[in-house]
Amino acid sequence: MENFNNNYNNSNLKDIVHDLKTPITSIMGFIELLKQGSYDKKSTLEFYDIILEESQKLLRMVNNILYVCKGDSKYNNNICNLNIQIDKHVKELTPLARKRNIDIKINIRSKNIYVSIPEDKMSRILTNIIENAIKYNKEYGKIFIDVYEENEKVFVKIRDTGIGIPENEIGEVFNKYYRSSISKKLSVEGAGLGLAIANDIVREYNGSINVTSALNQYTEFIISFPISHMEK
Ligand SMILES: Nc1ncnc2c1ncn2[C@@H]1O[C@H](COP(=O)(O)OP(=O)(O)OP(=O)(O)O)[C@@H](O)[C@H]1O
Ligand SMILES: [Mg+2]
Repeated sequence: MENFNNNYNNSNLKDIVHDLKTPITSIMGFIELLKQGSYDKKSTLEFYDIILEESQKLLRMVNNILYVCKGDSKYNNNICNLNIQIDKHVKELTPLARKRNIDIKINIRSKNIYVSIPEDKMSRILTNIIENAIKYNKEYGKIFIDVYEENEKVFVKIRDTGIGIPENEIGEVFNKYYRSSISKKLSVEGAGLGLAIANDIVREYNGSINVTSALNQYTEFIISFPISHMEK
């Protein structure tokens, strides 16, 4: 199997690092505005919100780039509580969803489920897929996150009511640097790294990841992992 970490392409990475300039420029612009000090309280709070959101976006981008650049490291804690991780990441991404009036519904049918994956790797998977479900959704769209168990495996289904992926491109979604023709046309920002990273981690931990989509209707990712143990 291809070694993801050692196989990145420098010129693509250059483009990605170039994309980091967008949130940085935005943060600097709003700090400049705040320094002028001539805005009412409502606008000032809005500027702070934008600075916070752009900083969070920057952090997510940097985390993906770090994952691609670093070799495999050793982690102490190889078990994570899936229920807690899902809750945590939905909470973190809720401000981004609110900005687009997107509603996230979580339906977890089991008590605490544990899987044998380091937390920071599970974090890469969930952040990237949920962030996509927000970014490539429509205004006032919905996201449904379902967690269920079957035959000693846990399934996480993340479905959005968004722009979808063209049928002839669906086989490419896990390729590094892939960006759909539709999202490029709509000028949604992205580096094309998130799903390649998620796919890489899922495979490393004996999981599976599948995607189905219909243009302009929905996209659904189903991730599954062997259950380490669970609370009945
Ligand atoms: N839920 C989705 N709905 C529609 N298109 C999607 C969805 N998720 C991914 N895509 C398409 O697949 C492409 C690859 O996704 P991926 O997450 O790997 O990269 P990205 O979002 O462009 O950038 P980033 O590296 O910041 O995540 C996206 O650019 C988009 O075109
Ligand atoms: Mg993405």
